[in-house]
Amino acid sequence: MGYYKATATAHPNIAFIKYWGDLDPDLHIPSNGSISMNLRGLFSRTTVSFDPSVEQDQFSLDNRQIDGTGLVRVSNLLDRVRKMAGINTFASVESHNNFPAGTGIASSASGFAALSLAASKAAGLDFDEKALSRLARTGSGSACRSIPAGFVEWQAGGNDENSYAYSIASPEHWDLVDCIALVSQDEKLISSSEGHALTKTSLLHPARVADAPRRLAVCREAILTRDFDALAEVAELDSNLMHAVMITSSPPLLYWQPATVTIMKAVQSWRKGGLMVCYTVDAGPNVHVLCSRDVSGDIADRLEKLSGVQKVLVAHPGGPADLENG
Ligand code: PMV
Repeated sequence: MGYYKATATAHPNIAFIKYWGDLDPDLHIPSNGSISMNLRGLFSRTTVSFDPSVEQDQFSLDNRQIDGTGLVRVSNLLDRVRKMAGINTFASVESHNNFPAGTGIASSASGFAALSLAASKAAGLDFDEKALSRLARTGSGSACRSIPAGFVEWQAGGNDENSYAYSIASPEHWDLVDCIALVSQDEKLISSSEGHALTKTSLLHPARVADAPRRLAVCREAILTRDFDALAEVAELDSNLMHAVMITSSPPLLYWQPATVTIMKAVQSWRKGGLMVCYTVDAGPNVHVLCSRDVSGDIADRLEKLSGVQKVLVAHPGGPADLENG
């Protein structure tokens, strides 16, 4: 085969109903469905070149050559693509995030979404959105939600064919704003893959999973009807439930810093005071503060003044993973 190359971009996403725990850890078949919003303004841009002159897969992230687990995860996804395309050429993969590494924004979702689109295109495969979402899921579970546009639901399914994400509302449907309050820029010590595996040690995990269909229905409806109060209640409950599972795992995972709690308390008091604002926290100490567009400037200013907040990034609903010059 000749020399085939493609470049794709994808946004990270923030989950309102979260993925935490797998039925199948290899294929990332989740214990429960999840719902998220893509984050416009933040993106990964990835170029894949299948190149007969390279003797093994190569992966650079923000101009740094990556080996070890990082390279293995990329190679595993490339293996799936090679198998489907019937090729055995190695690839060089170059990826850049426009949000600096260490800002605490997970780049695995946008990174694996962009890699799936670029690699399948470069290998000559013409995947539809569902096939791309399934492929991205195998790289990092939450990456399947960075393929479709806007507000996205990942149906848990139960196997490789029926576990994928689709859009439930376009980015234009609701101008919800995510003000991301950064309190720490350190690499997290426990990866989400390790965290997913620990869920089975928490007494609370079965209860969290059993109620997930109800929370998904409330969240989906809140998005479709742009009902901020309903979204706020279910998103905070879902985040608290995931962290309750984390804290009660063995060994326990406590991702929060004192500043995380300061922000959560401030957000709750602002909402009591009448502002449309709520929080959700991923596997790290930073707080995603969701609010309506009209108050986002005020919220970002208030967050910046809180003790322990280093920086605030502001993101609006984002589009799908996209090919460049495609
Ligand atoms: O896709 P992973 O394995 O990085 O897991 C993501 C886990 C959370 O970000 C904590 C929740 C979610 O649904 O995005």
